[in-house]
Amino acid sequence: MTAIKKAVFPVAGLGSRFLPATKAQPKEMLPVVDKPLIQYAVEEAVAAGINELVFITGRNKRAIEDHFDKAYELESELEAAGKEELLKLVRQVIPKNVSCIYIRQSEPLGLGHAVLCARPVIGSDPFAVLLADDFMDTAEGHKPVLAQMTDLYAYEKCSVLAVQDVPRAHTRQYGIVSASPYRPDLELVSGIVEKPQPEDAPSTLAVVGRYVLSGAIFDHLATLGTGAGGEIQLTDGIAALMARERVLAYRYAGQRYDCGSKLGYLKATAAIGMKHPETAAGYREFLQQLCKENP
Ligand code: G1P
Repeated sequence: MTAIKKAVFPVAGLGSRFLPATKAQPKEMLPVVDKPLIQYAVEEAVAAGINELVFITGRNKRAIEDHFDKAYELESELEAAGKEELLKLVRQVIPKNVSCIYIRQSEPLGLGHAVLCARPVIGSDPFAVLLADDFMDTAEGHKPVLAQMTDLYAYEKCSVLAVQDVPRAHTRQYGIVSASPYRPDLELVSGIVEKPQPEDAPSTLAVVGRYVLSGAIFDHLATLGTGAGGEIQLTDGIAALMARERVLAYRYAGQRYDCGSKLGYLKATAAIGMKHPETAAGYREFLQQLCKENP
């Protein structure tokens, strides 16, 4: 069986929900405390044993390539100034055994199309997809979410989608699955539909931005027409895959923050700010004070 060694990061999206912050910088570079969103997603992939990172980029995304590249000028300035700790931080952004590949998606044809752009690198191997604006905070005593999913893949040998229950009014923001219980925290997917209206949604079980997919998905993505929103949808590729192969929906352990929304982003910042060794104590005190003054 092939272990999951490759991950795809679709990062070509415009980030219009965060304008003007994203006018001249990618949304994936928005920081949560001291690291950009994309770095958290990359660290989650690396923690799952992945060593080949495929970024599907677009115009105005150069900052992502620079972030994962060597920063000669910065490193030599930090070195000259004797700032060893900072130098270490900058050098550790990506481990030496991990390689980054960048593919441009020249037209915004949808998430399914973005994933299909990775085919020349992935081939027929199983792989992971991580959407960086779904920020996954690791639950205490658990592995990071993607590592939980690659463990499941190793055992079940089939595609695994991360899912969570959402309020019915929110189904129009997600891929929604119909599924039947399979094992604790795991369901067997029997249907999946992209962004259904609440009254049409088959359930309230929503796919969030972590997928482990069989390489066979590419055959389906390659023949898809446009779906919801006039885009080539990953969800529709999964629906076609599901007719041939088993697909599981996994209720992961961990907390997801939707960093594609302002409120979700603020929540992620608060959650990490309360845990970060440099900010935890002072930030907690500040938040308590703020709440007291603004009941
Ligand atoms: C994408 C997928 C959707 C999934 C969601 C998770 O939608 O198309 O199926 O539920 O990510 O965040 P987007 O948020 O890009 O509109």
